[in-house]
Amino acid sequence: MKRWRRKYYDIFSHFYDKIISLHSGDKRAFLRELLIKKTGLKPGGSLLDLCTGTGAVAITASRVAGKDGLVVGVDFSKGMLRKACEKAQKLKTKNLYFVLSDVARLPFADESFDAVTCSHAMYELDPATRNAALKEAWRVLKPGGCFTMMEHCEPKHPFIRLLYYIRLASMGSPENRKFARDETPFLARIFRNVSKEITPTGGSKIILGTKD
Ligand SMILES: C[S@@+](CC[C@H](N)C(=O)[O-])C[C@H]1O[C@@H](n2cnc3c(N)ncnc32)[C@H](O)[C@@H]1O
Repeated sequence: MKRWRRKYYDIFSHFYDKIISLHSGDKRAFLRELLIKKTGLKPGGSLLDLCTGTGAVAITASRVAGKDGLVVGVDFSKGMLRKACEKAQKLKTKNLYFVLSDVARLPFADESFDAVTCSHAMYELDPATRNAALKEAWRVLKPGGCFTMMEHCEPKHPFIRLLYYIRLASMGSPENRKFARDETPFLARIFRNVSKEITPTGGSKIILGTKD
């Protein structure tokens, strides 16, 4: 199953950025900035971006972390990471790395990062992978560090909402639908101070929790 999802994302990587910019335009850039602001990342800090895709969140974070900081984006799709690396090379960023890995088993030592992010991906993971990924996020966070994720809200427009429900139903597990509606109880099993807020754009939500 995971093999097919990886292949799907390898193919999708060729169109991903185009589709996102057609769908969200400048809004997505604003949301990425907001997500990174919520992590509390400072110049010289470190951040891990789970399911980084074509690296947009990681690239935004690398600007904030600056030359003394460290940002790592992780994804299991070579296609997605190829696009991420192409973008990073053009920007000549020196503090940004991309690592091919399943988020359920991260190749990093305990307490390595000040912040961990995940944008528009957690709700797509199968429940076992998602639970493992959340535990891994906790493990690699430094004490006091923050896990911050962003997802779409349930769309208001009836037709778009119908498409959203079809997408959720296609994910197979009822737990995925539960998670997409309210992530907070799932995060609260692992993190402290879990909170959720709707972004000023109205269409997205940011959910965060801390490690002690
Ligand atoms: C919808 S994209 C989101 C990409 C990016 N975070 C963004 O906001 O544009 C989901 C990403 O999750 C990655 N992914 C899915 N399951 C994964 C897993 N088990 N381990 C690592 N990456 C995974 C996919 O390859 C894909 O790049």
